[in-house]
Amino acid sequence: MDYRRTYVRDIFTFAPGTTTSAYGWVKTRRDSKGISFVQISDGSCFKDLQVIVNEGIIPAETLKSITTGACVRFDGRIVDSPAAGQAIELEASGVEIYGAADPVSYPLQKKGASFEYLREIAHLRGRGNTFGAVYRVRNRAAFAIHSFFQKRGFHYVHTPIITASDAEGAGAMFAVSTLLEAHPVPATETEKAGSRFQMTSVKPEEDFFGKPAYLTVSGQLEAETLAMGMTNVYTFGPTFRAENSSTSRHLAEFWMVEPEMAFCDIDGDMNLAEEFLKEVIGDILENCADDLAFFNQRIEPQLLETLSHVVSSPFERLTYTEAIKLLEQGGEKFEYAVSWGIDLQSEHERWLTEVKVGRPVILTDYPKEIKAFYMRGNEDGKTVRAMDVLAPRIGEIIGGSQREERLDVLEARITEMGLPLEAYWWYLDLRRYGSAPHSGFGLGFERLLLYITGMKNIRDVIPFHRTPGHAEF
Ligand code: 4AD
Ligand code: MG
Repeated sequence: MDYRRTYVRDIFTFAPGTTTSAYGWVKTRRDSKGISFVQISDGSCFKDLQVIVNEGIIPAETLKSITTGACVRFDGRIVDSPAAGQAIELEASGVEIYGAADPVSYPLQKKGASFEYLREIAHLRGRGNTFGAVYRVRNRAAFAIHSFFQKRGFHYVHTPIITASDAEGAGAMFAVSTLLEAHPVPATETEKAGSRFQMTSVKPEEDFFGKPAYLTVSGQLEAETLAMGMTNVYTFGPTFRAENSSTSRHLAEFWMVEPEMAFCDIDGDMNLAEEFLKEVIGDILENCADDLAFFNQRIEPQLLETLSHVVSSPFERLTYTEAIKLLEQGGEKFEYAVSWGIDLQSEHERWLTEVKVGRPVILTDYPKEIKAFYMRGNEDGKTVRAMDVLAPRIGEIIGGSQREERLDVLEARITEMGLPLEAYWWYLDLRRYGSAPHSGFGLGFERLLLYITGMKNIRDVIPFHRTPGHAEF
């Protein structure tokens, strides 16, 4: 057996009369007088292939074991289909059953199972319509992202997953250690910390790396070192956050796309972000039409209309200060009161994008107190050149900024924020030797997928989610 064989997707292009074999998993079998209908799928496309099995072709015992979930190969001939919604079907001449699936215990038996239930059987849910579609869109989006950057001369760089520096200076990091097991934190402390172990419970100098080490929250700082030499680079890898937030938009392990550009300011950064989102969404509209049609029909009405609109209209650009004014004057009662200086909550972001503007919004020039240490300070001394892209339904989808390229300003900022200057010696070296104005951003890949698919929970756009209290599979 070779991987180079016919996919169900290919079979739909075959002319009636062609003999072929179809490999896949059984979705359903329905028997009527003298004929059985079997729907099979192999994940290659949204549509299932209908196989018709005329009485007498397959022994009755064999036919009985062709049940939902079984893995099979049907050999046969393509014929015109009288059924609505499909041009052709496969008339079986024989079958091979690779793996039966006990219909009594097969967990994916029920139609219309809840997404919560399907999360518990994430190892099987990819066989269903919704998750097949999600994973195909995920695959195509990853491809479109690489292609977007490669076409523009960006170099794909690999930044470390284990790191000693806190890129966001926010402290929501998972410790990496070979000593932790011997020194677990007591249960109550564990809950407080939001992660299972605390680094303070071991002697870091005796640990594997000789110092505290963590799972990275962002590849940005290392990407910056590569941009200062390679000019335009991007990373696309897993990142980790030990925030104890069980929301529909947060994962403890998620994938981030992070371009970093030398000789680029915040305007160039925004332009790239907008061009990037439009091109990737446009690619999915073009190449995953069947999957999107399904999401549009079953998950999010008006999805297609919204996505087409996003591709063709300019994003709104506002400063944080302007956004605060709009929020204050909008007459809306928010749970979390609005005033200049607050970190925008999802209710505010959604009001701005959904009610006020009706499409994605790029907010810039946030107060420095609520943003990371590395952002370029503005002349007003109060705000930084941050830019967040907010999307309707999702809120923040991209976070980025122009970077502080002035050594003295950056040192002062790190100290002011109570971060250890020594730990950032190599990051400061970039400003010491051949510093350049530069900018970049981070796109949360799963947030983008929520936006494109209309799925409501971020746990449903990654095959195996990691969230507080959950690391199955
Ligand atoms: O805004 P963030 O924290 O920015 C950074 O990490 C920068 N270092 C990026 C850069 O400039 N290179 O995170 C970037 C994006 C967010 O806008 C959001 O889409 C996503 O990452 N994100 C998460 N996605 C899922 N689960 C979480 N817990 C996330 N935290 C951030
Ligand atoms: Mg952010």
